[in-house]
Amino acid sequence: MSYNLLKGKKGIIFGALNDKSIAWKAAEAAAREGAEIVLTNTAMALRFGTTNALAEQIGAPVIAADATVVEDLEALVDGAMEHFGGKFDFVLHSVGMSPNIRKGIPYENLNYAFLDKTLDISALSFHKLLKVLYAKDALNEWGSVVALTYIAADRTVEGYSDMADAKALLQSITRSFGAIYGRRNHVRVNTISQSPTMTSAGQGIAGMDKMFDYAEKLSPLGNALAEDCANYIVTLFSDLTKKVTMQNLYHDGGFSSTICCAEIL
Ligand SMILES: NC(=O)c1ccc[n+]([C@@H]2O[C@H](COP(=O)([O-])OP(=O)(O)OC[C@H]3O[C@@H](n4cnc5c(N)ncnc54)[C@H](O)[C@@H]3O)[C@@H](O)[C@H]2O)c1
Repeated sequence: MSYNLLKGKKGIIFGALNDKSIAWKAAEAAAREGAEIVLTNTAMALRFGTTNALAEQIGAPVIAADATVVEDLEALVDGAMEHFGGKFDFVLHSVGMSPNIRKGIPYENLNYAFLDKTLDISALSFHKLLKVLYAKDALNEWGSVVALTYIAADRTVEGYSDMADAKALLQSITRSFGAIYGRRNHVRVNTISQSPTMTSAGQGIAGMDKMFDYAEKLSPLGNALAEDCANYIVTLFSDLTKKVTMQNLYHDGGFSSTICCAEIL
């Protein structure tokens, strides 16, 4: 059911690799709520994933961009402004990857070249994106930028490795840039701390199945699904959350406030 929450709004969605991706569900939900969308992912993800099927489904153009490459981000923002005929209203950064995790390298033995990559893809790319949006003055007044994070930024989740460090940096960039963008354009910048979710990125984490089950039991409302996250993202892009900025917003069925429950004891 549509509430037309994003009627007349336009934005860019990063990270829809396949129909399990949180960004995929977010694009579907934003389109359902009346938004016009530009989709983006890396050229390689566009070749190996199914982003183009989503693009066809929701009538969105796709512009390839590596989120770590400033020139790509500039071309993406220029392309989106050309497509929309001017400024736009929202951006979803749903991007993350750790070569250390991919290669099974434990945290106590991190490869630092890989760590640089993790931080660049999963955190600095958000600063680069905000910097480009800000420099080009691409977002309308009261625009909204959302990135996705995980509770391992705040409390230790063994196995999440250097992604925890990347997410902590991502959350800090959110606050720092949120202050600057809020003062100039009333643009909101927030992160959503999402439950473990069975996506390509999620399933790459060691012990993900067990973590998923544990969080499902501990969370009073159960894990938040990708579809639930998509609906929450819609509210943050809408005009109903205009004064929410520089926040890390837990979207986890109550997991972050719960320490124990009978089902697990
Ligand atoms: N799945 C979970 O359990 C979970 C929980 C909390 C937060 N998150 C976060 O949600 C976000 C989306 O992940 P997902 O779970 O939907 O998995 P996903 O694998 O579907 O999405 C990750 C996306 O990042 C893209 N990406 C990787 N490197 C990139 C680059 N250099 N430039 C542009 N895009 C790049 C990938 O192509 C992919 O589309 C990530 O930030 C992830 O850390 C996921």
